[in-house]
Amino acid sequence: MKYSLMQQDIVVADLEIEEITGRIQKIYQVWEAERMPVGVPIRRGIADRTALNEWWADRMIPLYREGVPEALSDLQMPNPAALSLHSLGMSVSDAYWIRPEGSHLTWEEKNFFAHAFSEDVGNALMGQREMKSAVDLHSPDSTTDGYLKKRWEWIDKRPYLLKGGSPPYFQQPFAEAVASEVMDRLEIRHVPYTLVMRDGRPYSLCEDFVTQDTELVSAWRIMQTRKKASSISVYQHFVNCCEALGAPDVIPALDRMIVLDYILANEDRHLSNFGLVRDVRSLSWIGFAPIYDSGSALGYDKTAQQIRSGTGIVCKPFKKRHEDQLSLVSSFDWIDLEALCGLDAWMRRIGTYIEEDRMEAILFSMHRRIDRIQEMAERGSRGVALSTEGDVEKNVAEDYKR
Ligand SMILES: Nc1ncnc2c1ncn2[C@@H]1O[C@H](COP(=O)(O)OP(=O)(O)OP(=O)(O)O)[C@@H](O)[C@H]1O
Ligand SMILES: [Mg+2]
Repeated sequence: MKYSLMQQDIVVADLEIEEITGRIQKIYQVWEAERMPVGVPIRRGIADRTALNEWWADRMIPLYREGVPEALSDLQMPNPAALSLHSLGMSVSDAYWIRPEGSHLTWEEKNFFAHAFSEDVGNALMGQREMKSAVDLHSPDSTTDGYLKKRWEWIDKRPYLLKGGSPPYFQQPFAEAVASEVMDRLEIRHVPYTLVMRDGRPYSLCEDFVTQDTELVSAWRIMQTRKKASSISVYQHFVNCCEALGAPDVIPALDRMIVLDYILANEDRHLSNFGLVRDVRSLSWIGFAPIYDSGSALGYDKTAQQIRSGTGIVCKPFKKRHEDQLSLVSSFDWIDLEALCGLDAWMRRIGTYIEEDRMEAILFSMHRRIDRIQEMAERGSRGVALSTEGDVEKNVAEDYKR
């Protein structure tokens, strides 16, 4: 079927989309080349269809997320792609959507930033099996990726993301709240997350940080805007791409993200877990997105003993070892570690569902890492040159499969 790829009410391109697989089969015409999704190459007016399909597939629910096959069956949908078509590909992270040929639908009447959305898809994704006879499939849940169980809720006229944790410890919601608190104290721009309990299970809750007139563009997409030479490190390639686009103040923001991830032993800062924010109308780059999705941290999948030993911690997105990644930090001058005084008590107070021995291990290993930051801060910046040594070779997100 024919659709127009839209950005708000601007027609960006005309496409043919196969209804069952959701694949873009043809790009008939690109009307607004500069408004095509970031990182989709256009040569002599012809857009790269494979790249556009990759972008399109990234705004679908991963089939491997817990409970997704069951939810699709409850909703009588053959696959995540078909589900996303029912939401016209609309999300709450940007202003792209698809308008069926001949339709007069407008952004104003359909977007999820301004209107409450159906809870049916969210209910199915959360495993609530009681389906109404007439389900409404227009929901941003259908276009939100990520492996953790989640749903968007409409609270005080804004979308909020409710996100669970993975078994056996369900630690991500706690770690997400701790990351938020650490960033509050260190004055790092971030999305505020709170820990909430629903039916005895922990979840994190955060407000949509994107608005109708802004869009989140992942680091992965930013890194598709230029060819990466093998002699250039992953870090430097990202910085070069940001510079070429004209995005401001990226290095200080990366410094803060790397330090945060070190303190929390974050193991899943892949290239879709940070990015830039752009103004949808002017297409100007506003800057580094506030830090989000920091919950796969503090030894979320490890035993207390493993947490204490501090071994086996995965590092992303630049270097394979956190110590090497820390050496990319350009300046520690902004850090006031005194601000973390009293953090232990705060963590014990909110993390009541974390076992005592586990909490002790988390605090013990976190302090060891804070001490290391203190040492580095005293010594000054940048130990190691920006070489490709120890670089992450592939961008892979944790899928929490056991
Ligand atoms: N507060 C927010 N505002 C706008 N968009 C958001 C927000 N939080 C998350 N998103 C979008 O939703 C996607 C999925 O959310 P998130 O990364 O938190 O899920 P996840 O399951 O933890 O992901 P992962 O697979 O990386 O573990 C993000 O990649 C981002 O595009
Ligand atoms: Mg994520």
